[in-house]
Parts: sequence; C-alpha cells; structure tokens
Amino acid sequence: MSLEQLLTSIPQGSPDEALARQVNFEQLPAHVAIIMDGNGRWAAQRHLPRVEGHRAGIDSVRDVVETSARLGIDVLTLYAFSIENWKRPPAEVNTLMLLLKRYIRLELDAIHGNNIKFRVIGRSEELAPDVQDELEVGIRHTAENTGMLFNIALNYGGRAEIVDAARRAIASGIAPEALDERRFSDLLYTAGQPDPDLLIRTSGEMRVSNFLLWQIAYSEIWVTERLWPDFRRRDLLEAVLAYQKRDRRYGGIKPSRVVAGAK
Ligand code: IPE
Ligand code: IPE
Ligand code: MG
Repeated sequence: MSLEQLLTSIPQGSPDEALARQVNFEQLPAHVAIIMDGNGRWAAQRHLPRVEGHRAGIDSVRDVVETSARLGIDVLTLYAFSIENWKRPPAEVNTLMLLLKRYIRLELDAIHGNNIKFRVIGRSEELAPDVQDELEVGIRHTAENTGMLFNIALNYGGRAEIVDAARRAIASGIAPEALDERRFSDLLYTAGQPDPDLLIRTSGEMRVSNFLLWQIAYSEIWVTERLWPDFRRRDLLEAVLAYQKRDRRYGGIKPSRVVAGAK
C-alpha cells in the first residue's frame, strides 16, 4: 500500500496524519501480532462489568484491522482467546463468544470489501458448534481474497500449537533426521506465514502469555500502557515507528535496521 492510500482514511491535519507521514513504507513489518489485553481493567476504571470492556474492545479491533490493511501489513494476528481463558467465569466466556460471533456477522462485508483473508489459529475444533459455524462462514467467504491475512487466535496456546505440530510430525512418519526448523514451522498453525516482526502487547504487562512461542523467537516487542479498548490507529502507527528504529541483529554483530526479516 502507500501513504496516499492510508491518508484517505485519516482526517487532514490530525496527529494521526503526522504519524502516518513518518512511516517508511519500504520497511513495514510483514507480520504484526497483538496481545489485546486490559479490557477488564478498562471496565473496572469505569465501574462497569468486565464484559463491557470486551464490548468496547471490538471498536479497537475494527480500527486496527482496517489500519493494518491500509498500511500494507501482510499478516495481522490478534490474540482473542487463550486456552487458559477457559478458567474465567462461564458468563464472561459466553459473552466473549457471543461478541466474536457478532463481530464476524457485522464486519464480514467490510473485511471482504478490504480484500482481507480471514483465518483462525488455535484448537478451533473445541469451540462450540455455533461459534465454529460462524468462523467457517468468515473463512469461506474470504478464502479467495489476496490482501492482508487476518489470523484470529482462538482457543490458542503456544505450547499446545507446538504439541499439535509434534503430533503431526509423528503421524506423518517423517524420519527424525529429516525434521528441521523449517519443516517444523510448516506443521504449525501459521504454516507458510512469515514470523511476526512486531509483537504488540497492550495494558503494560511484560509477558507473552503463551502466544506464538515458536514464531516470536526474533520478534521486536513493543509494550504500551494503553488498555486495549483505548487502542487506536495512532497507537499502531507509534508501534510501527518504534519498530522502524530498532536494530535487528538475529544473534549476529552487524546491526541491520528493520529491513532484515521484513519486506
Ligand atoms: C483481554 O482483556 C481480553 C481477553 C483476554 C479475552 P482482559 O479480560 O484480560 O482484561 P484484564 O487483563 O483483566 O484487564
Ligand atoms: C492474554 O491475556 C490472552 C489474550 C489476550 C487472549 P490474559 O489476560 O489472558 O493474560 P494473563 O493472564 O494476564 O497472562
Ligand atoms: Mg488480561
């Protein structure tokens, strides 16, 4: 994409425009992954039930998906529900699933219209049948799209993903010596996708919470205090600008500006 394309959606003279103009479109992260956290705290600050934070977080999802597609990000992965999140009260889990279904129903046309390809990563076969059906509609409807790949991580765990890949490797009968890092990557849910160049976490927590453990080996991590329901285009642009100032060395000694690994 281009600056011009991004600017068509940004009010002239706004702070977002100034940020957009600083972005180097030759050094975009190919894959951005986001741990969307802080919905509960956002609601608590307003003396609202936790689920109101989840509801408000949908606006952030919409904004970030659209901005990422306009920027020209190849892959966006959003962490929406972890395997560990089943520990939460059933009413909260039910509302999260309801909001997910509603999001797909309401946003599918816009997602499709932006040429975005929708995918799910995680043990989606363990989700309720009505949720699976809704996800399937989204996946099928956008399967032929050629723009940004939008992965939503649902019932996702990084360790579970590695175990699933190991199971697949064993089931395929591959000889142990034939298994290497590249082949193993092809057994993960993200087979064929570039590893995240940029990992964003909101709400200030300094942990990865079982997200994309294999894939983030050399990701640049950017943490913001912003709570997820307050996260908007400007925050994403700030993250991209911070990323573009990083030196990625991949264990070597020559600092290479973000070009390496990204497009
Ligand atoms: C993130 O917000 C949403 C999910 C994990 C589903 P939280 O619900 O974790 O919000 P906090 O961390 O309690 O503030
Ligand atoms: C991470 O947030 C999971 C998602 C964003 C879906 P959590 O709120 O579940 O993570 P912890 O419990 O603070 O590590
Ligand atoms: Mg949390």
